[in-house]
Amino acid sequence: MMFRSIVVSLSLFATAEAWVTPTTSAATHSHAALASFESSSKPSSPTTTRTTSLSMADDNFDETRGGTYSIADQVKRFETAKKENNQRYLDIASVYNGGELSGKRILVTGGNRGLGLEITKEAVSNGATVLVLCRSSNDELEELVGKWNVYSGVDVTDTEAVEKALKKIKNDGGALDYVINNAGYFYEKKETILDNTLNFDEQLKQIDICGLGPLRVNAAAVHAGALSEGAKLVIVTSQAGSCEWRFTQNKDEGGDYGHHMSRAACNMAAVLSSEELKKKGYSVILLHPGFNRTEMTAKYKEIWDKEGAVDPSVGAKRVLYEAMKSSMETTGQFLNCEDGLRIPW
Ligand SMILES: NC(=O)c1ccc[n+]([C@@H]2O[C@H](COP(=O)([O-])OP(=O)(O)OC[C@H]3O[C@@H](n4cnc5c(N)ncnc54)[C@H](OP(=O)(O)O)[C@@H]3O)[C@@H](O)[C@H]2O)c1
Repeated sequence: MMFRSIVVSLSLFATAEAWVTPTTSAATHSHAALASFESSSKPSSPTTTRTTSLSMADDNFDETRGGTYSIADQVKRFETAKKENNQRYLDIASVYNGGELSGKRILVTGGNRGLGLEITKEAVSNGATVLVLCRSSNDELEELVGKWNVYSGVDVTDTEAVEKALKKIKNDGGALDYVINNAGYFYEKKETILDNTLNFDEQLKQIDICGLGPLRVNAAAVHAGALSEGAKLVIVTSQAGSCEWRFTQNKDEGGDYGHHMSRAACNMAAVLSSEELKKKGYSVILLHPGFNRTEMTAKYKEIWDKEGAVDPSVGAKRVLYEAMKSSMETTGQFLNCEDGLRIPW
């Protein structure tokens, strides 16, 4: 296949609102984004842009890489699924069978609310024993999994607390078949350079929670001997961690530095640990859970319908579906739970 250099214009002075995971602007500009990949070197504003080169298989350039990768533009992705009547995407229940979770021992971080709580409910309803690592517990959770299975007061940024909790989990029976790293944080305000809204403390906090958090938990689980043979280490990350997709989803706007950097760091830690832990027989998988209607995305409420946001109970099935499928063959992969396809780095 012929490769040539494509020049992509990146505006340094874009002002329009950008958004992260599913972007309104990404959505709006996605075709423009593709056009800019395809049509080479016309800068959108000659006085305010710089250019950079990307090497791509442009002659047949297809964002989906022939269907083997998911689509960066979230609106287009959702529209394509509807056009193709893709049941895997539109109705996860049509392919999902949670039976395999029966009798499994699953640790879920941030299982007290949002997607984590739904993952917990779904796994329990299929006969799994779910242990929850969280900062604060609640009655609903304790009724669901049993008070003794809630390890509360544990912040994933606190190495000592995480290690202590995993040792306790080991002493309480250990033998975790799955560790689902779901706890995450997305700073509410939009960060940009040009509006002078960068918040470095928040950036470090997000990197600590979303980047280091899963590494801390997984490492503590390994060291404590809390894993069963062939355990699956699952990391709920975000498509926001894909550098390549920033050219579409944050086109001409950038923004949300801390969150996106934290997920890129998360992805790097996962790939490194997938390589390191092969010899132990533990797989590591990175899952973008899709767009879920939770507190985290409430700020994007107005685009929930347009961009295919689902109830977190659906998101939970999507995550568990891919978690169950993960194996030593797929270790280190970064997948979109909406369609099961890979996301480029
Ligand atoms: N919703 C989406 O569309 C979407 C898209 C892409 C990725 N994700 C990822 O999916 C995961 C779940 O998201 P969500 O939508 O359910 O978010 P959410 O409703 O905001 O819930 C976040 C969960 O993470 C926990 N958490 C936050 N900081 C923590 C810390 N320092 N230590 C321990 N727990 C902490 C929260 O616990 P507290 O109750 O103690 O705050 C809560 O349980 C996150 O990792 C998120 O980044 C979500």
